[in-house]
Amino acid sequence: MKHIIRPIAAVLLFSVFILPATAQQENPVKNIGKVTTVNISDQKVNLTTDQNAFIEVTVYSPSVIRVRMDKKKLGDDFSYAVVGKPKQTKANIVQNNNEVVITTDSLVTRINKNPFAVAFLTKNGRVINKDEEGLTTSWIGEEVTTYKTMQEGERFIGLGEKTGGLDRRGSGYTNWNTDAYGYTTGQDPLYATIPFYIGIHSGLNYGIFFDNTYQSDFNFGASNNRFSSFGAQGGEMDYYFIYHTKLPDIITSYSDITGRMDLPPLWSLGYQQNRYSYYPETEVFRIAQTLREKKIPADGITLDIHYMDAYKLFTWNTDRFPNPMQMNKKLKDMGFKTTVIVDPGIKVEPGYGAYERGKKADIFLKYPDGEYYQGQVWPGWTHFPDFTSEAGREWWKDEIKFFANTGVDGFWNDMNEIATWGQKMPNNVLFQYDGHLTTHKEGRNVYGLEMARASYEGARKHMENKRPFLLTRAAYSGIQRYSAIWTGDNRSEDSHMLLGIRLLNSLGVSGIPFSAMDIGGFTGNPSIPLYARWIQLGAFTPYFRNHTGVNTKSSEPWAYGEEVTEIARNYISLRYKLMPYIYSNFYEATQTGHPLMRTLAIDYTHDPHVYNGEFDSQYQFGETFLIMPFESGKNYGKVYFPRGKWYDLYTGEVKPGNQEEIIGVAYNKLPIYVKESSIIPMQSLIQSTSEKPADTLTVHVYKGDVNNSFVYYEDDGETYDYTNGEYFKRTISYDPLRKTITFDKVEGNYNSNFKNIKVMLHGFDEMSRVKLNNRNQSLDKDFASFIEPITRFDPQGSANPKIGYNVQSIVVKNDKDRFTISY
Ligand code: NOJ
Repeated sequence: MKHIIRPIAAVLLFSVFILPATAQQENPVKNIGKVTTVNISDQKVNLTTDQNAFIEVTVYSPSVIRVRMDKKKLGDDFSYAVVGKPKQTKANIVQNNNEVVITTDSLVTRINKNPFAVAFLTKNGRVINKDEEGLTTSWIGEEVTTYKTMQEGERFIGLGEKTGGLDRRGSGYTNWNTDAYGYTTGQDPLYATIPFYIGIHSGLNYGIFFDNTYQSDFNFGASNNRFSSFGAQGGEMDYYFIYHTKLPDIITSYSDITGRMDLPPLWSLGYQQNRYSYYPETEVFRIAQTLREKKIPADGITLDIHYMDAYKLFTWNTDRFPNPMQMNKKLKDMGFKTTVIVDPGIKVEPGYGAYERGKKADIFLKYPDGEYYQGQVWPGWTHFPDFTSEAGREWWKDEIKFFANTGVDGFWNDMNEIATWGQKMPNNVLFQYDGHLTTHKEGRNVYGLEMARASYEGARKHMENKRPFLLTRAAYSGIQRYSAIWTGDNRSEDSHMLLGIRLLNSLGVSGIPFSAMDIGGFTGNPSIPLYARWIQLGAFTPYFRNHTGVNTKSSEPWAYGEEVTEIARNYISLRYKLMPYIYSNFYEATQTGHPLMRTLAIDYTHDPHVYNGEFDSQYQFGETFLIMPFESGKNYGKVYFPRGKWYDLYTGEVKPGNQEEIIGVAYNKLPIYVKESSIIPMQSLIQSTSEKPADTLTVHVYKGDVNNSFVYYEDDGETYDYTNGEYFKRTISYDPLRKTITFDKVEGNYNSNFKNIKVMLHGFDEMSRVKLNNRNQSLDKDFASFIEPITRFDPQGSANPKIGYNVQSIVVKNDKDRFTISY
């Protein structure tokens, strides 16, 4: 028996002494718990829970609700991203035993008390988004996460610079700004943190902006079939929920919260030639001169790190660039602006000016014991200014004067993740975080944003009334207020060209309209067809810069032969002719936050085709052009035409919408379609934006079945005088039912560059005359042509000397008063 009794006793002993102890173990995941107190004020509800969590729900506007939570008292309300304040909003807030209900004009927020959980509903009770009731919000140590119920068929887009497809369902992502040299097409994270995404399901769409600068993680159903979630390694759960019936309005509300871009200088919308690096000065002039000789329009030359003396910031290598001021002046006379690279690392070298001045101002990042942090980057061991302190930014702003004084117009902020050799910056480095002293863990993701801010403010300070151009690699939400962003060290591969398109589309939907990728690819050498395709696409990206790495083939179009030179000239010229359209679209971005590169999900949100991997790189450039970005080797391929009618840009042929089609793809022609009812202002060809176009603005109008309008905007493209009314703005509208094209009365005091307007009619029945303000006017025969034939290489070239088709047109005076053309 003994041998039976002994085990039984052991089991008994185990259950009496060990099991209860196990049951009492603390749950390592600390849930937010159940609500114990509720305090309702005007537009705000404050709650506490039995787990000592503190919660604040604020009505920001009828469509925006902010939710803050912490497992201790909420801290100072401080954010680098947020500039929008809550708007005075009519909100009805009531509570009963089970819940608190907030009703605004556009949505209902239900706060469940046990457990604390939030649900957002439409006014007629449809769930837009709600907390997963079992998981809600919880902490694992300092890591906080909010879990949301995965809705039937839910898709997720946005999150800024993230690889992968348009629909992020089934994937997870991390935000930790990273120097991702030669990244793969699935790599994560990259350089920038934009913790804003849009959820789409059952005819509804909403946005969530999670404002937390610690390393953050998003799960859109990766390795789980229960929830979507977002969380961070520390700090508060602090998110903004945005609901609108139309997706573009979500982007606008997000940009109400995090700010919008300024009008860029016009020259920054022209073509920019770059490589790592052009030097010496004679080489820079050779490039500039060749662009002019070959009639490839261009506005910018960018200088990479070799312009410096031993990579020391705020110096010039005087052997290579003996007189930068003179060089920049000469370039300006040729119609080029200079952009220089600026890296944050300041070389540790006694006697070197910036190092000595930085030490004196005591603005470098430090370890907790007060010693300056050193990391290695181009110049060797360096210190890094703390851009999260006012003193650091002020110091940088003064240093920036060095460039402004030599006639530099653009500042390219690089390596600001922070990039250091070894790529593992210690977490105990302290960041001032503007009065909220913290560590690398919270400071890293905003370092790039704050560097760009300091460069922007410095440039503004020293360039007087001139608009600077800023470019940055690392970023956090809000970057659009200061700088354009580019997607870093991509590869010269077809898959990267297409990935680049998706990255820019994703940045656009995430509130960043001004973006770029290295055209041609940074690492490696593109094939000739790839380079040709990439440069065509580049003409339809917001910041159009050709760039390549240090040991690669030259990246100028002529390095790829005669035919590519012609292709490049064709598409760069088209971009310059489209400048009035492009600039007006940038104006739109300053007003609404809407991007230039529009994933089809913006306007065709609930059409499942647009998320299909076959079509998810297609995009619109402005609302007009539908761009089909094919890989370089393809002679034909499948495309999707969303609802409506689409005109082939080159032939005027109309394609019906809502259908897939296989189209032929010519090497020298990027497939581009124009949406019905479009209104496109264009100008004559110029070689740089410093050149005045001819005095007739051409406005192309495409017949369609839907009403459309376009806000035409013009100003000097250079200064801030537009803020004092020096602009020329009018709405142009097309009404197919009334059969009218109307030019509204002009707003603003600026005198347009254009004396006349030529209206070109596409797809309209042939007519002998139209009415201009009720007076008969005859129409002219005309020819619509957007690119030149590449005769020398096109076998049908000589038989077909022009690419285009016949249309009718009418020339009218660019009167500031309203006028109508009716037909
Ligand atoms: C890294 C940047 O991503 C790249 O564009 C640049 O050319 C190099 N740094 C050198 O400055």
